[in-house]
Amino acid sequence: MLNWDEFHEDETAVAEQPAPVAKPQPAAEPRAEAVREETVRAETVREGAARYAVADQDRLARARKSLDELDVAAGLEELEMGAARIEVDDKQMINARADLNQLVPFKYEWAWQKYLDGSANHWMPQEVNMNADIALWKSQDGLTADERRIVERSLGYFSTADSLVANNLVLALYRLITNPECRQYLLRQAFEEAIHTHAYQYCVESLGMDEGEVFNMYREVPSVAAKSAWSLKHTQSLARPDFNTGTTETDQELLRNLIAFYCVTEGIFFYCGFSQILSMGRRNKMTGVAEQFQYILRDESMHLNFGVDMINQIKIENPQLWTPEFQDEVTQMILEGTELEIAYARDTMPRGVLGMNAAIMEEYLHFICNRRLAQIGLKEQFPGAQNPFPWMSEIIDLRKEKNFFETRVTEYQVGGALSWD
Ligand SMILES: [Fe+2]
Ligand SMILES: [Fe+2]
Repeated sequence: MLNWDEFHEDETAVAEQPAPVAKPQPAAEPRAEAVREETVRAETVREGAARYAVADQDRLARARKSLDELDVAAGLEELEMGAARIEVDDKQMINARADLNQLVPFKYEWAWQKYLDGSANHWMPQEVNMNADIALWKSQDGLTADERRIVERSLGYFSTADSLVANNLVLALYRLITNPECRQYLLRQAFEEAIHTHAYQYCVESLGMDEGEVFNMYREVPSVAAKSAWSLKHTQSLARPDFNTGTTETDQELLRNLIAFYCVTEGIFFYCGFSQILSMGRRNKMTGVAEQFQYILRDESMHLNFGVDMINQIKIENPQLWTPEFQDEVTQMILEGTELEIAYARDTMPRGVLGMNAAIMEEYLHFICNRRLAQIGLKEQFPGAQNPFPWMSEIIDLRKEKNFFETRVTEYQVGGALSWD
C-alpha cells in the first residue's frame, strides 16, 4: 500500500541533495546515479510548477475577463454576497442571468421529474447474461450472413454514436442551457450515455469481435460515417470557445443543435439499428445483445422526450426564434436525417432479413420522421405513413420492472429505501 508520508520525505531528501558532478558514473555507483536523476527530475518539476503558476494566473485573468464580458450566467461567476434570493421567475431555459448553482425553487417540474425517472431506471451492462449470445455468435451456422452483418453494423454505429452524444452534451450544450433543473437531467443523461458506450463495448468484448474494426466503423463504413459526420458538425459549431447565445442567430444555432441531437441523432438515427436488433431478440437470437438494446432504448426514449420538452420550452420563451424560414430549415434537417437513416437501412439490409427489409424500414422511418416533426410543432411530411412495427412502441413503453424477454427483473432503489436486513 502507498504511504504518502514516506513519499514526501523521500522527495524532500532527494531535492536537498547537492547536484553531483555530471560525469560518467561507474556501474559500482548506482545510488549516486539515481540521486542525480532524481535531482534533475525534482528541478524539472519545480520549473514546471513555476511556469504553470504563471500560466495559471494568465488563464484565470482571461477566464475572468470573458465572464465579465458575458451577459449570460454560466454558474462560474464570483459569489455576490447578500444578493437578492433567487425567484422562480428569474429562471429561463437560455440566456438566464440568475444564479445557476441553486437547484430550487423549481420552475421546470418536467425536467426534475425526468431526472427522478431516469435515476429510477438505473442499470448496468454486466447484469445482462451474454452466454447464449456468445455460443450463437461462435457457432458456424447459428446466424445467417445477413444477420451477422446487422449485429456488426449496429455495434459499429452505436459504439461511437453514444460518445458523440455525450461529447455534445458536456462540451457544447451544457454551458448554454442556463437552468439548473435541466442541467441536473443533462448530467444524468451524460452518465447514461457512458453506460450505453460501456454496453456496446461489453457486447463487442463478450462476442470476441474485432474491436478495431467495430470502433473504426464510423470512419470506415460510408453509411455509418455519413450519420456520424452529420451529428458531429452540429457539435462543432457550438463547441467553439467563443460561441455564446444571446442573439437570434446564436439562439437559433443552439436550437439547431438540440434538433440535430435529440430529434435526429437520438430520435431517428437510432431507430433502424434498434428495431433490427430487437427483432432479432424477438426471434430468440442474440437475446443478451437485444436486452442491452432494450434498456438503452428505454433510456433513449426519455432523452428524446426531454429534448422535445427543452425545444418546446425554448420556443415558448423565445417565439421570435421560430420564424417560418427557420421552421422550413429545421424541417429540411429532419428530412435529411431521415434520408441518411434510410440509406443506412439499405446498406444493412441488402435482402429481406428478420421479417423486415429496406422498404418496410423506409415506411417505419417515414412514420418516425412524422412523429419527430409533430413533437416540435412542425408539419408532417409523409401523410398517412403507418407504423409497421407496433411492437417497438410496446417495448419503449414497458414498465421498468418487467423486461421484454423476461430474463430478469430490475428494480433499483435509492439509497434511503434500501433495507439492510
Ligand atoms: Fe445513448
Ligand atoms: Fe441518449
